[in-house]
Amino acid sequence: MRCKICRKEKAVINIKSYLLSLCKDCFVDRFRRQLRHTIKQYRMFGPNDRILIAVSGGKDSSVLWYLLTEMGYQADGLYIDLGIEKNQYSLRSKEYAQQLSQSLKRPLLVYDLRTNTGKGIPDLKGHSNRKSCSVCGKIKRHFMNKIAREKGYDCLATGHNLDDETAALLQSTLRWQQHYLGRQAPVLEEREEGFVRKVKPLVRFTEKEVALFAFLSQLPYLEDECPYAKGATTLFLKDILNQIEERSPGTKLAFYQEFLKIKALFQRELPPPNQCMICGMPTTAQICSACKILSPSLP
Ligand code: AMP
Ligand code: FES
Ligand code: ZN
Repeated sequence: MRCKICRKEKAVINIKSYLLSLCKDCFVDRFRRQLRHTIKQYRMFGPNDRILIAVSGGKDSSVLWYLLTEMGYQADGLYIDLGIEKNQYSLRSKEYAQQLSQSLKRPLLVYDLRTNTGKGIPDLKGHSNRKSCSVCGKIKRHFMNKIAREKGYDCLATGHNLDDETAALLQSTLRWQQHYLGRQAPVLEEREEGFVRKVKPLVRFTEKEVALFAFLSQLPYLEDECPYAKGATTLFLKDILNQIEERSPGTKLAFYQEFLKIKALFQRELPPPNQCMICGMPTTAQICSACKILSPSLP
């Protein structure tokens, strides 16, 4: 099959939702253009903003760091070492993040959970009834926000892609969790009480597109899933969405984009948060959920 744009080269991907087959050069050009468009469309950040990218060593955040740096943005990396020893997962992820930092010549901040709190994710999951992924998600969000604030970054960028976002959307929709639906967005504005601005520049791309971009750009990244992810609800939902997409191409993007149009229906004015008694970060309770996870003996 030939590329539908240049009509010369052999196609490397067939994007069924657009009935579009593209060759390597046309695919990577289109990817860059769409990323620029998304950043502009949602007014994510400007050329003078200092961006902190949460880098996991996986494909999404690596592609994001690589492209934002190439576009001339001041983007530094933050790697959170979760202390996952199984399959040397944390160690190997960190090595990929460090390797990318060196090749991009951009600083990488490393936050070691065990050194700083005395506990890694494998210790913490035993302290809570919640599944390890949800514990881990709360801990990561807490420290990403805290570090971005403390270091004075204008925004925090994560590598969430369309598959991540639609899986989260499906999960919240199935139970009509208004609180989560109201907060799901490509941009979450800064809040004075202690929340840094959060952006997700890859929301427009499927996991498959990001993986192909990484492969074609020869970007090294850790391909393994986290050893605790097996059986996670998110993976199950992603699989279901892929089956729907296969039958009805374009559904994922429509599901997400049409939701954004009606999202205001779910938005509620949030009461001003308290300051966590332990860490000072914003929380609706007396003690924030990260501190509760880290100190399970607390009330
Ligand atoms: P996940 O929560 O694993 O689905 O990852 C979503 C996003 O969070 C990634 O694209 C990264 O931007 C960020 N992230 C995940 N794990 C880490 C980590 N260990 N350190 C820093 N950022 C991370
Ligand atoms: Fe956090 Fe897997 S990355 S539990
Ligand atoms: Zn706290």
